[in-house]
Amino acid sequence: MLSAADNDRMCRVGPGTPQGTAMRRFWIPALLSSELPAPDCDPVRVQALGEDLVAFRDSEGQVGLIDEYCRHRNASLSLGRVEGCGIRCIYHGWKFDRHGNIMETPNVADPKFKQRFKAKAYPVREVAGMVWTYMGPAELEPPFPHYAFMDVPDANRLNAMAIVPCNFVQVMEGLVDSSHLSVLHTVGLKNTDISQLSFAAATGHMQFDAAPHIEADDTDFGFHYVAIRRIHEAGAERTIARVAAFQSPCFVFNPNGDLWFAVVPMSDERTMFFHLWWDAQKKMGEEPLASEQLRFVGLDPETLEEWGMTRTTVELGRLSPHSGYMQDREAMRRGHFTGIANFTQEDAIVSMSAGALRDRSREMLCVADLAITCLYRALLKSANAGERGEAPIGLNADVSRIRGANATLELGVEWRTLVPEHRLSTAIAAE
Ligand code: FES
Ligand SMILES: [Fe+2]
Repeated sequence: MLSAADNDRMCRVGPGTPQGTAMRRFWIPALLSSELPAPDCDPVRVQALGEDLVAFRDSEGQVGLIDEYCRHRNASLSLGRVEGCGIRCIYHGWKFDRHGNIMETPNVADPKFKQRFKAKAYPVREVAGMVWTYMGPAELEPPFPHYAFMDVPDANRLNAMAIVPCNFVQVMEGLVDSSHLSVLHTVGLKNTDISQLSFAAATGHMQFDAAPHIEADDTDFGFHYVAIRRIHEAGAERTIARVAAFQSPCFVFNPNGDLWFAVVPMSDERTMFFHLWWDAQKKMGEEPLASEQLRFVGLDPETLEEWGMTRTTVELGRLSPHSGYMQDREAMRRGHFTGIANFTQEDAIVSMSAGALRDRSREMLCVADLAITCLYRALLKSANAGERGEAPIGLNADVSRIRGANATLELGVEWRTLVPEHRLSTAIAAE
């Protein structure tokens, strides 16, 4: 449970807020590279941390991320023409390059006029299928992070992104909440037809134990936690340990070991939910594997469009009480547990059904929610650091050694041996 004041402090990310200030100290993904497929392609309206921006790929293939609203009289540059290494406003023709420099102001005769000011522009890097940006003060820009998934070839990586119409913390909670898996996703986990997919194979056993034992440690990058389930096989008792890692400010390493999430706030009530799978051997990004994987979790383009989870379709408000959240009550009567077709939509709908920014003064946390309390604590610590102008947790952590992990262990074997490179701060035992 959190007070209304702490809830706001944890969740709100606009300019000048404590959490917004902390998040602006990190490089974060802002869009998928595939959203800007070619030089001079259509620009994309991108919201991030409560700021309205436009992304475009210029004639040289370089990406710019600048203020959405034209510096002249604020028409949206998402309507603009991307041409001649810049983006031109269609209202009076002012043109901007990717650094925010004003290239032309055709309705002003004085050639020096355009040198007096700039448009807001953020630095970007294009790495691992995503366009990353840094939205903090220039003098505090940290080194670009190096994740293990950045070392595999493009073909061995699969990127996807869904828009979820609620606050980012609600989306993140679902990623550190092992006990919902065997309830909310009960149908997906029993779907053995697709068990050749690594995701299905790695999660299928979870249907057998709805109340796993949870332990957690604070770490130098945030925290990690384990869900331990007992299994009986061939007369022997063992445990299955699944370790997830939360990396400040908004990243999670899934216990499957090959899946990383970035949960990036667009505004206080909308979130970009990036998924990245990678595998040193398997070509995850090639067909038919890529489409099979995306369809299995509900992240293929057709499904995202249908449920209103893309940048444009989210504006239609399809996921709302008005549509009954698109839940299929007929399917429930026929035996489907949730009446919601896929993992991604099940997670999104339960998260947002609590309200676009849920009131945590009304919740009753239980022992299964240990990692949720760790998440609140880590995020509040970050916000407090942001407010004091200090470095948030994890800012200087070596992210290349963070991992999610899972294994079947003999009884008595320490689960922390699965993540030997994580630097612990404190062990937090479940009551
Ligand atoms: S509003 Fe963009 S050029 Fe006038
Ligand atoms: Fe889930």
